Amino acid sequence: MPLPNDQGVQAIQTGESVEELKAAAVASLDSADSIELLESWRVGFMGRKGRLTALLRGLGSLDIEERKIAGASANKLRSELELLFEERVNQSKSSEALVGSIDISLPGRRPSLGGLHPSTQMIREITQAFNEMGFQTIEGPEVELEKYNFDMLNIPADHPARDQWDTIWVDDDTHNDILLRTHTSPMQARTMEANDPPIRVVVPGKCYRYESTDATHEWHFNQVEGLAVDEGITFADLKGTLYEFARRIFGPHRKVRFRCDFFPFVEPGVDMSIDWNGKWIEILGAGMVHPKVLENAGYDSTKYTGFAFGMGPERISMLRNEITDIRHFFSNDLRFLTQF
Ligand code: PHE
Repeated sequence: MPLPNDQGVQAIQTGESVEELKAAAVASLDSADSIELLESWRVGFMGRKGRLTALLRGLGSLDIEERKIAGASANKLRSELELLFEERVNQSKSSEALVGSIDISLPGRRPSLGGLHPSTQMIREITQAFNEMGFQTIEGPEVELEKYNFDMLNIPADHPARDQWDTIWVDDDTHNDILLRTHTSPMQARTMEANDPPIRVVVPGKCYRYESTDATHEWHFNQVEGLAVDEGITFADLKGTLYEFARRIFGPHRKVRFRCDFFPFVEPGVDMSIDWNGKWIEILGAGMVHPKVLENAGYDSTKYTGFAFGMGPERISMLRNEITDIRHFFSNDLRFLTQF
């Protein structure tokens, strides 16, 4: 009798050849696409009552020569299937992990990069306009002494002008003269105290007032202060500088109006308005630095003169961008912020 080749060997118990079993096992492993299906494949083919196990058991009934050949090829098949099974399990585990964490079928999206806050953008534009006219940008403390916020600016404790600023005090048991600055003007006094003329500075920064909010009032907001001190500075210099500023920020043909106004630290004092669609809109306060303020800082007021101004960048941004409520600037709503 010719020796049957391994393909011809029948496992008597199951009637299945090694080759048939291999084809069935590989096909069903290929289509097992979850951990659960893979497990039932393992039980069905490799488990104690599985088809490969049955085939191996059936070899016992073959005669010795047939058993050698069929046994070798069945064992070979077992290690092949074990290897394939392991590969499939690993594949399936990593793809299930992926499915759990990211959706790999989604199209790519650009990361959102953020941008400068609209107040910051406006402050930079304003300070740049003055920088190009020779002013240097400096900053000062938001938590300020009463002395700089009021006294040195010719606003003594009993002066009725203090009523103009409702102040947030930050006193503790040992101090009763510390506050959140109500304007950036204290930097006039600080700058003069620490420097000799000539001085030309702009000072952007946050200010705080203890007042209720509405569409045009916030309890915190920015200001940009300006100060120029030197020999021979006149009101004409103030006007020329602020005209030029208004042209740069609001366009070359913008009409500008000055009116008398009162601030204790300037004399004369003015406010400046611009023509906005036929209406005069006030955008800043200004004036010639009061001789007392110069003297308070140790300057000889017969030798030096100067001008100062203060404006609100949020207000200017509101005009330029047609924003109707100042509270938008600080409510952190991305629908507002991303428009800039
Ligand atoms: N500090 C004033 C205010 O807050 C503005 C101002 C600054 C006026 C400088 C004159 C000169 O209203």
